[in-house]
Amino acid sequence: MYLGLDLGTSGLKGVVIDDDGNVLAQESVSLVVTSPHATWSEQDPESWWQACIDVIQQLQQRLDLSKLKALGLSGQMHGATLLNKQGEVLRPCILWNDGRSQAQCASLMAQFPELIERSGNLAMPGFTAPKIRWVQENEPEIFDQLAFVLLPKDYLAYRLTGLMSSDCSDAAGTLWLNPQTRQWDDTLLAATGLTQAHMPIVYEGCDLIGVLSDSAAKLLGLPQLPLVAGAGDNAAGAVGMGITNPGQGFISLGTSGVYFTVSESHKANPLNTVHAFCHALPNRWHQMGVTLSAANSLSWFAKLVDKSVAELLDALEDSELTQTNVLFLPYLSGERTPHNDPLANGQFVGLTNTTNTPAMTLAILEGVAFSLLDCQNALDSAGSYVDELSLIGGGARSAMWRQIIANVLNKRLIYRDGGDVGPGLGAARLALLGEQQSQGKEIEALIAEYCTLPEVLEVHEPNGVQASYYEHKYALYQAVYQATKGLND
Ligand code: XUL
Repeated sequence: MYLGLDLGTSGLKGVVIDDDGNVLAQESVSLVVTSPHATWSEQDPESWWQACIDVIQQLQQRLDLSKLKALGLSGQMHGATLLNKQGEVLRPCILWNDGRSQAQCASLMAQFPELIERSGNLAMPGFTAPKIRWVQENEPEIFDQLAFVLLPKDYLAYRLTGLMSSDCSDAAGTLWLNPQTRQWDDTLLAATGLTQAHMPIVYEGCDLIGVLSDSAAKLLGLPQLPLVAGAGDNAAGAVGMGITNPGQGFISLGTSGVYFTVSESHKANPLNTVHAFCHALPNRWHQMGVTLSAANSLSWFAKLVDKSVAELLDALEDSELTQTNVLFLPYLSGERTPHNDPLANGQFVGLTNTTNTPAMTLAILEGVAFSLLDCQNALDSAGSYVDELSLIGGGARSAMWRQIIANVLNKRLIYRDGGDVGPGLGAARLALLGEQQSQGKEIEALIAEYCTLPEVLEVHEPNGVQASYYEHKYALYQAVYQATKGLND
């Protein structure tokens, strides 16, 4: 039995699988994001640890966790968890969807033009390195005490083991890793006043990093389990959905929306805002286009109109609406792909006295689909074309949304069993691979055996029926962004 813990933005999920890789149970606990200023997004690392304890307790009520053989972690990427030399947290973690470091991205790229080539990525707000420069410039008393920087899931690993570790997939999203060598890059670290002494050891996602500390094991009522390094949530989601080989891809409809493809080498295309990172498994890389507010756009609107997301979607289905004049731009947290603009705004355009909630809901589903089309265009130009995509994440539960995305992207989409547990399942699979690898089994054979594609539940072929409607709306979508750029500057 293996445990995967996925530290998401809206909650922490635990997934337990048996020795054959079948899901036995899953539990989750919600997390709160704070936004002390416009464009800021923070979380208290202590709340992650409490959620971890709670989820394990919930799972213990359903299963005998003394049978666990290993634990793996997955987590929201890019967050900067700052620790002093005693390992204490210095300030709330600055999250992946925080847009405060725009000026620092510009100054980093101006002063270190080699940054783009060495990291294979553009400096974008939300990535870890520019946040550290922001702290250096705006909170020097914190920067002076800074001894270690950990990514969110790596902070949980630290609480669980007392050891500081990371994995290549997550570490690539800091801008301090050379994704080709899969090692920290001294020049990139120096650009933000850091050295390797501030950094954890980087492993492959399926490598064992150590065991639960005595105190954590006692507190959690678990054996002193081995831990694998784990992965950033997108790479972990890919492992969970069997997206491990070049030419495969998926879309994740979580808080963020991610268009993810696997490659046999590091394929950078920074100027098109493509994220080119390491995969969580050896000798593989991946590209992503990232839209910052996907399922979050729906939950934002649901809260606004005092309904649940399910109620919104049901009302839309009941209305039988398939077209609307309302247009929505999902830039509630700014946007990465393709604009790299933390000050981009969310927009509802085309409202009238007769606009109703279903029309606005449909506009949100379409707007997120258009943002994924932007990602597809960026990735296609990076040479990362794929024939079909799997779908994961909470938003993927809506069949209507899946079909809209298939039509807008003009691409076959496959909804598979377990799509909603993707990253947690991937983390559990990494734990299984790591534990089996330590018994002397060969990693490629293990990947082929356990990282399989889950059963197909539904295939969505693009039906072309509304092709000209979507084409027209996508052109307007692009024009509205250009026309309203600067509204919040
Ligand atoms: C990826 C990204 C998000 C977070 C969400 O670059 O920022 O997908 O990982 O958890």
